[in-house]
Amino acid sequence: VIVDFLALLRRCRAERRAVAAFSCYDVETAAGVLRAAAGRPVVLLMPAPAILHPGGDLLAAALRAVAEQAASPVSLQLDHAHGLEEIRAACDCGVGAVMADGSHLSRDANVELVIAARSIAARRGVAVEAALGRLAGDEETALEVGVDADGLTDPAEVRRFVAEAQPDCVAVAIGNVHGVYRDRPRVDLARLRSIAARTERPLALHGGSGLQACALRAAVGAGIAKVNFNTELRQAYVAATRDALPAAGPLALHRAQTAAVATVAAAKFAAVLGPSTGLHPVEAGPLTWTASV
Ligand code: 13P
Repeated sequence: VIVDFLALLRRCRAERRAVAAFSCYDVETAAGVLRAAAGRPVVLLMPAPAILHPGGDLLAAALRAVAEQAASPVSLQLDHAHGLEEIRAACDCGVGAVMADGSHLSRDANVELVIAARSIAARRGVAVEAALGRLAGDEETALEVGVDADGLTDPAEVRRFVAEAQPDCVAVAIGNVHGVYRDRPRVDLARLRSIAARTERPLALHGGSGLQACALRAAVGAGIAKVNFNTELRQAYVAATRDALPAAGPLALHRAQTAAVATVAAAKFAAVLGPSTGLHPVEAGPLTWTASV
């Protein structure tokens, strides 16, 4: 069932929980993610290059159909759009949210991109995630990278950025990277708390692959409402494809891909949501949701 992105994230932020978000390049991946979700809320991320790829509109329609039929509450989000073309395309395809990623632009150009994205998205009731701070690494390839120290989100900039750009959700750079962590990851919780103290908006943590469960839970406790995963899912998918290829026909191949994705996604759900006992707010129990939208 499709649910409202912003309502889901606001509730997560208010309750110090987070929703796990996974990049889906095909229906096999989405099926694996939903198998692992087992009824829990989830965000299906459609990478921006996928929507511009031939047939991208069909993939968006397929992911929407998967979301509609799922037992889980699901939101569909376009991830890492660098321009308005893909934002328009995604809004036409019925996503619930887009990420207007101006993290590699100047501060003012970033604000302008988010404002322009909002003007497109608002007409369709689509939420907009912005990025304040810049992550090292590539969103599509599993390169080993170190943290971009100059790109860390500056808490002092948060209020002005949110006031000017008015994003619905803010992605932060707090020691996270896209791809494979070259060094032992260190999430800067003090920085995150300082950011969270300056805005009520839900905060997103990209670069979830490679972060330990304890780091993820600490980040959720400090204000992260959505954690994005791609690299580890993609690696499992590709490895399963490679292993299955010599003998498998297309359907056996798809089953192997879906199973591999489900295994990784299940571990990520456990990492983000925590065990069912304990005192930490994120461990308080499953986030239940009534159908809407
Ligand atoms: P990873 O590829 O590092 O898991 O990051 C995914 C992500 O942030 C997608 O937006």
